[in-house]
Amino acid sequence: MFQPLSNKKVLLTVGPTREYLDSVRYLSNASSGRMGLALARALSALGAGVEIVSGPGVAVPRRFRSVRVRSARDMFSRVRERFGRADVFISAAAVSDFRPARRISGKMSRSGGRSARVELRPNPDILDWAGGRKGRRVVVGFALEGRGGLRRASWKMARKRCDLLILNGPETMESERIRPTILRPGARPRALGLMTKERCARAICREIMRLVQK
Ligand code: C5P
Repeated sequence: MFQPLSNKKVLLTVGPTREYLDSVRYLSNASSGRMGLALARALSALGAGVEIVSGPGVAVPRRFRSVRVRSARDMFSRVRERFGRADVFISAAAVSDFRPARRISGKMSRSGGRSARVELRPNPDILDWAGGRKGRRVVVGFALEGRGGLRRASWKMARKRCDLLILNGPETMESERIRPTILRPGARPRALGLMTKERCARAICREIMRLVQK
């Protein structure tokens, strides 16, 4: 069987991150990691060596090399350790943009029914870091945007120096299907219509194959 990516190593982030407020509560999102896992399967069917950095709640099949993380900062440090040996970096994780400024040890009490404030600090942007030091690597990002997202997505692709960016809507989260638009620098955006995440993964792989062969 022809395996066009057999000499390529792909580092892939998948799933949500958790940002703890105290020992039991956290901020997170509804990412299921399905798109990322579909990509892992499609890439490995093409012969690529896939390594996954996965957020909590994602059932990564045992056949993939993977490491589990909780917070965005954990994810960032695992990516930094592995980035050097990757030919392709794909950021499919829904990374929390913020974390609580303080993590309280134990469980926050109701403090007599008074309201409480949480101060949030920005998390590191892993994809932005990767784009800034990619060298000859191919860097792929995702963007979840509502209406009018095309302009923001193109801007993001340029700012984070991605070679490929997959734009999709908020309805993608937790869903089996996706309505992707594929963006590449200097090319016209390509809207692909509603499809399964498996099919979308194969479309993304075709783009990646073109990019690694350049
Ligand atoms: O800016 P925004 O969160 O929409 O960017 C989405 C892309 O950036 C996704 O590919 C996501 O995995 C990545 N990202 C990241 N680190 C963050 C936030 C987003 O790698 N802190």
